[in-house]
Formats: sequence, structure tokens, C-alpha cells
Amino acid sequence: MEKLVVNLAYIVSASLFIFGLKGLSHPRTAVRGNMLGALGMFIAVLITLVDKRIVDYSTLILGLVIGAAVGTFLALKVQMTAMPQLVAVFNGLGGGASALVAGSALYEAVNPNTVFATASALSGMIGAVTFFGSGVAFAKLQGLIKERPIRFSGEQATKAVLLVVALLLSYKLALSPDKTYLFWFILIVSSVLGVLLTIAIGGADMPVVIALLNSYSGLAASATGFVLENNALIISGSLVGASGIILTNLMCKAMNRSLLNVLFGGFGEIVSTQEDDVYAGKVKATSPEEVALLLEGARRVVIVPGYGMAVAQAQYAVRDLYNLLENQGVQVEFGIHPVAGRMPGHMNVLLAEVDIPYDKMKELEDINPLFEQTDVVIVIGANDVVNPLANTDPKSPIAGMPVLEVWKAKTVVVIKRSLSPGFAGIPNPLFTMDNTLMLFSDAKKALQEIVTALKES
Ligand code: TAP
Repeated sequence: MEKLVVNLAYIVSASLFIFGLKGLSHPRTAVRGNMLGALGMFIAVLITLVDKRIVDYSTLILGLVIGAAVGTFLALKVQMTAMPQLVAVFNGLGGGASALVAGSALYEAVNPNTVFATASALSGMIGAVTFFGSGVAFAKLQGLIKERPIRFSGEQATKAVLLVVALLLSYKLALSPDKTYLFWFILIVSSVLGVLLTIAIGGADMPVVIALLNSYSGLAASATGFVLENNALIISGSLVGASGIILTNLMCKAMNRSLLNVLFGGFGEIVSTQEDDVYAGKVKATSPEEVALLLEGARRVVIVPGYGMAVAQAQYAVRDLYNLLENQGVQVEFGIHPVAGRMPGHMNVLLAEVDIPYDKMKELEDINPLFEQTDVVIVIGANDVVNPLANTDPKSPIAGMPVLEVWKAKTVVVIKRSLSPGFAGIPNPLFTMDNTLMLFSDAKKALQEIVTALKES
């Protein structure tokens, strides 16, 4: 096919990616944005398929069928709570595919030049870091290996040496593109680097790492785009790389951390504390009926959802409670922490699913000043994002992370099943505060019982 036609089609698909990303920046336009992105990808795949220069139909169709089957199965089966693991797998596969495609192009090339070899080396390096880093992130999030950061003496020096060796090997390959065996050494060194970079991170820092690996997968794809001289891949890879780094930056801001600190600091460590020592005799339990009584006398209520709401699939019960309270003239708002749950926007998606109005979902900066004027805060399966230790204990793994200061309200009701810690693995002094009541229950069950008690009163 004419190169001009192919490139024009790629420009159309790249424009659709950009409009798609723009759409994704707001919940109201997100679905349309997603469709535009998918259309762009469809055009890019279609045009690549008919471009005879690069197509072996039989293998491609087999790959498409297997990939589509696995993708459809995952999309239907994977729970919202397992989304971060799925994203980690996607990132890893993207990085791995980029590295392999660049490697095979290097092996097939006749008289490869320096630019070609440099792009192949970069793709191999970033792709291998992404593949193995994402593999470790997946294993941590899935609980296959310990979430705790694994550190050892000389760790930073080892990583620095591996990085320098990978860069030197890439430089050598760029100078002598015919020495294709160097590519394999780049892959091996970068793979070890990917593992070491990710095993050192844990606890509440995982969201930052996933976003960063997402960015890497885009950069690897972009480098492969240069290898294949494929403009659609260069542009889409750059878009993923850029949006991934913007998301990483937002995540760092949400955790009040610098990226260097996440990657190389000793933060994110999980401290195990004996729960009995922290909570002994200081926790006050409550019942759904007592919570209903409290709510009857409230004028202003804030609901703070967390990971437990997603686990319990309690969003429908939350909607019922919200409707009931609003109908009784109570002002209800939602306090949404940027890293509540297990993926960016996790809580917003669940609440939007049950038609909670967007203007009722308040961001951390907007809701924090309002807690003092709030009668009742209902914390539903949230833990780390409402932990005062972030403000008071500089040694805490979440020190400095902005949190929802729910304890400033008149009464706080925390709905969770036990005193178990959240993702960061630390105790939460909120549970022992004078104005806190613990409702030990599955979130959905507790909310349904509160709604029933409110209706009966
Ligand atoms: P967490 O701190 O993880 O706490 C969740 C709480 O939910 C747990 O303490 C658990 O206590 C409770 N829970 C679990 N199942 C429940 C159920 N069926 N009913 C009621 N409660 C239930 O959650 P969070 O406050 O949302 O904070 C998020 C954490 O995850 C942060 O540390 C964040 O850094 C991290 N993280 C976030 C992301 C993103 S991007 N959002 C990605 C990865 C990690 P019980 O077991 O006692 O019920």
C-alpha cells in the first residue's frame, strides 16, 4: 500500500488517540474518549494489517484470535479489585512485546545503521525493565510474594552498576550494529535491573510504581516504533509514556513524595505492630441501629469510601443510604482520597456506577476544611487514607501522605470487619479516638442494616 496512505491513516488514528485522551480527562466524556481511542487503535491495526510490507497473515490471525480470546476473558472475569494487577500484566506484556519485536527486527535487518541499533537497544532495555518490573509488581499485588520491600546492603550501587552496564552495552551495539549478540546481554542486565527496582518498593508506594511502569511500556513501544519506522507506534508510545509520567507525578503528589524518594528511598516499608498493644481496651464498637439514630439527628454527613467498599461491592447499598438521607433533608457528600482503593479513580468509578452525582464527590483538598462542620462521617472500608499517623508520625510508612482528616468531625463511624490494617500494614489510631465508633461488619451488610433501621424508625 502507498506509504502516503498508510501514514495518513496513522495520523488519523493518532489524532483519535489524542482526542480520546482529552475525553478521558473528565468522567462525563470518558466513555466517548474510550471509544475514540478504540477507534483509533482499530484504524491503526487495520492499516498495519493491509500494509503488505510487514504482514504475515497466518501468524497474525493466530495471534489476534488468541489475544482477543484472552483479552475478552480477562475483561469479563477480572474483578475491579484486581484491576491494578491486570494493569501490571498489560504494562509488562507491552514492554516485553516491544523488546522482542525490536530484537527480531535487529536480527533480520540487512546492514542496520546506528539509529536503528540505538532504537533497538533502548527498546530492549526499557522493555525488559518493564516486563520484569511489572512481573514483580503483579506478584506483589496478587500476594504471590511478600508486599514488604526487599532491600539489601549495596542495593543502590548494584542498581547503578547495572544501569551503567546496560547503557554501555547499548552504546556498543549502536557503534557496531552487526554485533547482534549484544542485544541479549542488554536484555539480561535490564531484566535483573527491572526486578531489583521493583522488589525494593512496597506498601503504599505500589500505585506510583504501576504508573511509572505504564510510562516505561509506552517509551519501549515508541523506541520500537523507530526500529520499525512505524509512525503510529512512535506517536502512541509517546502518548502512553507522557500520560504515564503525568499520572506518576499526580500519584507522587497524592502521597506527598518525590519520585526519587519512591524509587530509592527507604520508604514504603511495612511495619508490623501487634494490634492488641495499640487498640487494647480503647475501641468502642457500635451497632447499625445506633448508627441509624446518629444519622437521624445529623444535618451534614460525609461518606468516605475505601478499598473495603470495593471488596464488599457495597456501592449499591451506599446509594440507598445516600438517597434515604438526602430525602430526609440531610446534606450528604463523599470524601474521595486520590489513592483510595487500588487504582486511580477507583472510588469515583464505583460511585458513578450507582449514579452518585459527580458534584457530590469532593476531592481531599475540598473536603478536609469541611470536616469540622460535619456531624457524622461514615468511613466505609477505608483505612490508610484516614490514618492520622500520616500527620503525626514521621517514621510511619505513610508519613507526609495527605489524608482525609475525618477525626475533626463530631462523630466518626468506621465500618470494617476487624481491626486488621490496610494496604500499608500499619495500625490506625483513628479507631481508638474518643469520637470514633467501630461497626465491625462486612460493608454491604452493615449499610443494608443501617438503611433498614432508618426506614423502620
Ligand atoms: P486500605 O488502607 O487498604 O484499607 C482497606 C480496609 O478495608 C481494610 O482495613 C479492611 O479491613 C477493609 N475491608 C476489606 N474488605 C472489607 C469488607 N468486605 N467490608 C468492610 N471492610 C472491608 O484501603 P484505603 O483506605 O482505600 O487505602 C488504599 C491503600 O491502597 C493505600 O495505602 C494506597 O496507597 C494503596 N494502593 C492504592 C492504589 C490506588 S492507585 N488507589 C493502588 C495500590 C495500592 P478489614 O479486613 O478489617 O475489613
